[in-house]
Amino acid sequence: MKRFGLFLLSALLLTACSKKDCLSSPDGRMEVSFRLTESGQPQYSVTQDGDTIIRWSSMGLKTEEMGLDADFREEKTEFCSYDDQWETVWGEERFISDKHNQMTIHLHHQSGIKMGIVFRAFDDGFAFRYTLENGDHPLHPLTITDEVSEYRFAADHEAWSIPWRTEYYEGLWTKTKLSEKQDTLCSPITLERTDGGYAFVHEAALTDYPAQNLYMQNGALKTYLTPWLEDGKSTDTKAYIELPFSTPWRMVIWTDDLRQMVASRIMLNLNEPCKIEDTSWIKPMKFIGIWWGMHIKTMTWEEGPKHGATTANMEKYLRFAKEHGIEAVLAEGWNKGWKTWADFSFTEPYEDWNMDYLAALADSLGVQIVGHNETGGNAAYYESVLDEAYAYHHDHGIHAIKTGYVAPIIRTKDGLQWNKGQSGVRHYRKVIETAARYQIAIDNHEPVMPTGLQRTYPNLMSQEGVRGQEWNAWSNDGGSPCSHVTILPFTRIMAGPVDYTPGVFHFENPGNAIDPTGVRGSATSRKPRVHSTLMNQLGLFVCFYSPLQMACDLPEHYMEHPDAFRFIEHVPCNWERSILVDGQIGEFCVFARQERGTENWYIGGINAEEEREVTIPLSMLKKGKNYQATIWRDGEKAHWEKNPYDYTIETIEVTSEDTLRIQMASGGGFAVEIEK
Ligand code: NOJ
Ligand code: CA
Repeated sequence: MKRFGLFLLSALLLTACSKKDCLSSPDGRMEVSFRLTESGQPQYSVTQDGDTIIRWSSMGLKTEEMGLDADFREEKTEFCSYDDQWETVWGEERFISDKHNQMTIHLHHQSGIKMGIVFRAFDDGFAFRYTLENGDHPLHPLTITDEVSEYRFAADHEAWSIPWRTEYYEGLWTKTKLSEKQDTLCSPITLERTDGGYAFVHEAALTDYPAQNLYMQNGALKTYLTPWLEDGKSTDTKAYIELPFSTPWRMVIWTDDLRQMVASRIMLNLNEPCKIEDTSWIKPMKFIGIWWGMHIKTMTWEEGPKHGATTANMEKYLRFAKEHGIEAVLAEGWNKGWKTWADFSFTEPYEDWNMDYLAALADSLGVQIVGHNETGGNAAYYESVLDEAYAYHHDHGIHAIKTGYVAPIIRTKDGLQWNKGQSGVRHYRKVIETAARYQIAIDNHEPVMPTGLQRTYPNLMSQEGVRGQEWNAWSNDGGSPCSHVTILPFTRIMAGPVDYTPGVFHFENPGNAIDPTGVRGSATSRKPRVHSTLMNQLGLFVCFYSPLQMACDLPEHYMEHPDAFRFIEHVPCNWERSILVDGQIGEFCVFARQERGTENWYIGGINAEEEREVTIPLSMLKKGKNYQATIWRDGEKAHWEKNPYDYTIETIEVTSEDTLRIQMASGGGFAVEIEK
């Protein structure tokens, strides 16, 4: 990533407020204050425009060896300011500015350990992390048993969340007041504040540490670190750390409106700059795949009469991709191991898959193959063969691999561990770093929640960690409700790119009758389906950001609606600028994004149950220029359940003075391509 315009000032006057140990945001609206209580306990509080938004809240860590949440004395405080802009390898924006003030409180613990608390104040939020040094304490490794960081919000905000045990985050988000949250929650959570503003609580730069979870207790939102397991059971241990050590950042985005919340880049700014020197091989791309067929049960992963990943089928997909300008094709089920879901091989294809032939064909067509490595949760085994697996893919010209675990508790070299515990976090990092050495990008399914690491490792391109489209193929609760997709841009996708797999064009689902004997079968089971119109599926390509964006349906289904498929052929997945035009969490959302390196804009809308009209001023277009806008929108009779296929397409001339008014059906949506 190119860096320029670096101004690192030691500017006490710009950063500090009038009180001691108090940090201002660059615009002066937010103030973060620090104090030690009489028992030497660190605490912080936050105000905005003079109003308290976070009351005095506890900080620190507990370890098996000692409590690092009290018995501190303060040594010194340092301030600095930062104003920089950096260029992304890919992303929702080409340039990201990072303007913040920083305050570091240097503390001395009675054990001799030195702890720093680094605060950063941005115009759109704040963050803090702990740094630990041995000081004059003889002990090196520490066993973390708890982190006491908390957020004592001054009001009882509404919060969107999923419970912390939701298997790899594949759940439906719900909203209640913070005080009504019964469960421990996954990080992130999104707050609809009592004063009309928005907040997003998450972590950044999760490295060698367990993922954060959150729970309410005595009026405070507290941290619960994912526990370390022994023999598959929880222990009091959360992490083993060697000093010096820095924890991930705890961060809160705090904005007046939803648009600003979505535009916040605090999380990326809190991550380290790119560590990959040559990034020229990292290419955003759309892909189709031998995939949906298995989920609707018209194909199988394993060999047999319905085997999906055969040489002949892949050849058909590769030629289809070439013909329609789709950059890549994923194939799942190409390798041995699927029958038993054990001992997956990442270098041995099934008999009916000719890797050499397909690699050569893909190369001659100029289409990429996206590899697939399903580990079945055996991360330790995967690590032991990573080098040979990636060398094999690299030698076949494969530069992107979708990985998968399908287990919330995975087998790491530390035994059975939460995938989001410290050991799981270490595993995923090892995968990304090893993949980078083989020039391979990763699309990770069943991941730990993203925390902005793609800034440091832009080969970590996409991740699941969401109740994705696949649930609409086989879940026995009938599929995700219309509102689901209108919640995700403001919750899960705030944490990073999502491999949701949009683009279903055929809503009859022949393969998946309810299986009453299966684990998902119950008296309330309903046959699954996609709760959307076809236009909503197009809108997702703009509303859901992923630099590896899958169009998930079968080629023959796309050819049932070639003129709607045209939008998928054209829509890019790498952007110059992105703007949330309008939205309401759980109701609807409209994004406008400028294609990277061009003057073209793409606008997408997705709607929940209640039909509505949205208004889109085109003021983002260059003044005085004429553009051609093609609009794919719901027809008058469109309805997700009764009539998902009703749509119209029109092309009109527009300028920056114009405003589009577009009606979205129940479960509907739209897509617009604006070219100069
Ligand atoms: C779950 C993944 O989310 C899905 O995309 C994949 O097809 C299956 N696992 C099999 O690996
Ligand atoms: Ca999954």
